[in-house]
Amino acid sequence: MSPSAVTAMAALLLTGGAGFIGSHTLLVLLQAGHELVVLDNFANSSPIALDRVLELASPDAAGRLHRVEGDVRSAADLDRAFTAPAKPIAGVVHFAGLKAVRESVEQPLLYWDVNLGGTRALAEAMGRHHCDLVVFSSTATVYGEPQEFPLTEAMPTPPVHPYAQTKLAAEQMLASLVRSEGWRVASLRYFNPVGAHPSGRIGEDPSGIPNNLFPYITQVAAGRLEHLRVFGEDYPTRDGSGERDYIHVMDLAEAHVATLDHLMQQPGPTQITLNLGTGEARSVLEVVHAFEQATDIAIPYEVLPRRAGDVPKLEASPESAAKLLGWRASRSLEQMCRDGWAWQQANPNGYR
Ligand code: NAD
Ligand code: UFG
Repeated sequence: MSPSAVTAMAALLLTGGAGFIGSHTLLVLLQAGHELVVLDNFANSSPIALDRVLELASPDAAGRLHRVEGDVRSAADLDRAFTAPAKPIAGVVHFAGLKAVRESVEQPLLYWDVNLGGTRALAEAMGRHHCDLVVFSSTATVYGEPQEFPLTEAMPTPPVHPYAQTKLAAEQMLASLVRSEGWRVASLRYFNPVGAHPSGRIGEDPSGIPNNLFPYITQVAAGRLEHLRVFGEDYPTRDGSGERDYIHVMDLAEAHVATLDHLMQQPGPTQITLNLGTGEARSVLEVVHAFEQATDIAIPYEVLPRRAGDVPKLEASPESAAKLLGWRASRSLEQMCRDGWAWQQANPNGYR
């Protein structure tokens, strides 16, 4: 049976589907014709994101989206999500989780509870509802402070903070279910997702002063923040500022569709772990200059000491994903800047 035939008879569940990456993936899956359930407690997102996704999708999409407000740690909420559509749930994309590295150092138990406990509760619900396929949102921070690049999936994973530890533990928990229950599992290690849907209608909506480079830059461009603080110019990198592998969120969304299609075609136990990046790290200063070129807006900055916990560089090898899924990121840094800026300009207060 083809993957599309399988999913025509079934629905998919997105936990955390109202969030930054989840909302963009939801749109692409709705546009591909899928029926979907979103389970989200809106701890770090807004239901308005789901309205905007429906606006961008085809007119019939509203009938294919089931919204369940609830917590991924709650068996009752998960049961409501699994039974929301008349069709069975054939697969889950598990985005729901917490992602702030510093907060994870300050409140480790919260991170173990939501990220690992949430994944465990989800896995138990999948068992109750006879679903054996899950795509898990992991992170490039599982590689700790690597010295060799590009990073391949077989390289050591010595995570250095609770956030990355909880993600690696969840990867391992799901891998054990491949062995014991014959599940089909993909752990996707995202590098640095940025940008927004080109319409400017959905995007990243951090609360308060942004922690991350891209939303900080767009808020400087909008005049909401005075200048960028560049954390460190003494790293052993091309220009001394930190290097990361930034990937357009729409490329990431498309990678989830390719991963689901791949897993759906597997007849038996399957475990895959893939880096999702472009393969090309960019420095903080390169990003600043790319943004200035793409938007014609100057970004004033000052250089500060290194930020605690930051590593010099992260850069993916995108080859495993290319080989297995036939997927590669295609959008440029310029597009990431342009689309991120369009979203910020049209939504100065995010969804609020
Ligand atoms: P996000 O915060 O925008 O989305 C996460 C969503 O999960 C939000 O809608 C939030 O309300 C929801 N959520 C949180 N706790 C929940 C709970 N207990 N029950 C139900 N819903 C809950 O983050 P994102 O950037 O879209 O990230 C999605 C996933 O990818 C996360 O698991 C994150 O750790 C992982 N990830 C993100 C990045 C990144 O830089 N954005 C990098 C690597 C991995
Ligand atoms: N940076 C600045 N100024 C800022 C913010 C960031 O110079 O105001 C620098 C950082 O020092 C780093 C780079 O920009 O060199 C990227 O920093 P981000 O905070 O944007 O991203 P991180 O790589 O620190 O972390 C992000 C997410 C994590 C995720 C990780 C995956 O926050 O959740 O990417 O690589 F796990």
